[in-house]
Amino acid sequence: MSQTKQVHNGQIINSKIKNNQSLQTQEDILTYYSRVRRDSEYLCEPLEIEDYGIQTMPEVSPPKWHLAHTSWFFETLLLKPYNGGYREYHPKFAILFNSYYDTIGTYHPRNQRGILSRPSVDEIYRYRKYVDNAMFELLTQTNHLHQQDIISRTILGLNHEQQHQELLLTDIKHIFASNPLRPIYKQNFHNHDYKQSTTNKPNNKSSRIHWIEFNGGIKSIGYSDGGSSPRNFSYDNEGPKHKVLLENFMLASKPVSNAEYLNFINAGGYQQVDLWLSDAWKTVSQHQWQAPLYWEKVDDNWCYMTLFGMQKVDPDAPVSHISFYEAAAYARWINLDHPGVRLPTEAEWEFATSGLKLEGNLRETGILQPQASRNTSKSKGLQQMFGDVWEWTQSAYGAYPGYHAAIGPLGEYNGKFMSSQIVLRGGSCVTPVDHLRTTYRNFFYPHERWQFSGFRLAKDF
Ligand SMILES: [Fe+2]
Repeated sequence: MSQTKQVHNGQIINSKIKNNQSLQTQEDILTYYSRVRRDSEYLCEPLEIEDYGIQTMPEVSPPKWHLAHTSWFFETLLLKPYNGGYREYHPKFAILFNSYYDTIGTYHPRNQRGILSRPSVDEIYRYRKYVDNAMFELLTQTNHLHQQDIISRTILGLNHEQQHQELLLTDIKHIFASNPLRPIYKQNFHNHDYKQSTTNKPNNKSSRIHWIEFNGGIKSIGYSDGGSSPRNFSYDNEGPKHKVLLENFMLASKPVSNAEYLNFINAGGYQQVDLWLSDAWKTVSQHQWQAPLYWEKVDDNWCYMTLFGMQKVDPDAPVSHISFYEAAAYARWINLDHPGVRLPTEAEWEFATSGLKLEGNLRETGILQPQASRNTSKSKGLQQMFGDVWEWTQSAYGAYPGYHAAIGPLGEYNGKFMSSQIVLRGGSCVTPVDHLRTTYRNFFYPHERWQFSGFRLAKDF
């Protein structure tokens, strides 16, 4: 087993580099690199050796694959092109741990990552160490001809690794939820006997939402200083900054809660065909969906799987593990009695967040589960825009005006996925705070729901 398992105590990381903090010196880059790489290993500390190789569905990757793939990224995009004399760790790792980069070469099928008993977990930790040593060698070269590219790609690689850290947690949750023993990833202060609980009724007096009004007009959205300089990293899909025309709109002060979503379930929402998009209804029928992913009835109470085991559904927390299809059906159901209610566009969501402080129930809280808002009913502004749950918008994931994907592997990172997916905004309880921005565009297929995905409503006025 890895050495880190003995050294660290299963604690989730306390980020030291805050959002937008600049990375100005070589030492900053090295510290940043070490911290992010170490974070991935911290997240795996609670795992047993048998947990590392499991793949429970095509979208889920085994934890050991995440650990290796993130190292492959540095090996392939930095060490091979820029570290003269670098010898790759293993010639076939280039196939095993390439995810989808066709311009780099062939790769092992995504849905068969769980059949790889070798390389062993120990071997993958040795691979990580080997890559880290070579990366330190590369990052300490002061007069490298391609120094700016090296820094830019390193920062991209670290953001890529942070994306995989989020996937590590959502994939571990799916792996544990697929096991009838319902293993616990991490104990926390929420652990209690869920069978003792008697109700799913809301208990927070401030749980009702209110509507916040925004005046429309010509607004700007998108990242204003794209590229990947250390000071201002963004993904290419967040730019260019451009103008959009917004009508007047309102945004709900909070995401839809479990209690509110339960009303939809109890009203027969999953059986009412006219609430659902055509593709959605096919999915609901085929998979017999009756509730969000991970929900199950225990002794007449709704419970769900969390990273700290089975828990009673918290009525006041934002509903999570919802597909876009379910979010859209819920919005349509509300719209029957409240005309004008709908899902927000990503432009509305981004405009509404301008000036908001980027803080919330993100990974650094260590809670790893969406929480009820801690604000009181006196809070009149937007709540929980960051953290807790990624929020589905109604916007298709596509290119902003003026966007062009780069030629080569870096252009494959985001650009080639601009088809048939939907944008989510705001980060979740497993997103690192220094990975997020108000312009950040996450995207998933509309049927997918193993991420911490929820939604808030918008309204025309
Ligand atoms: Fe990746």
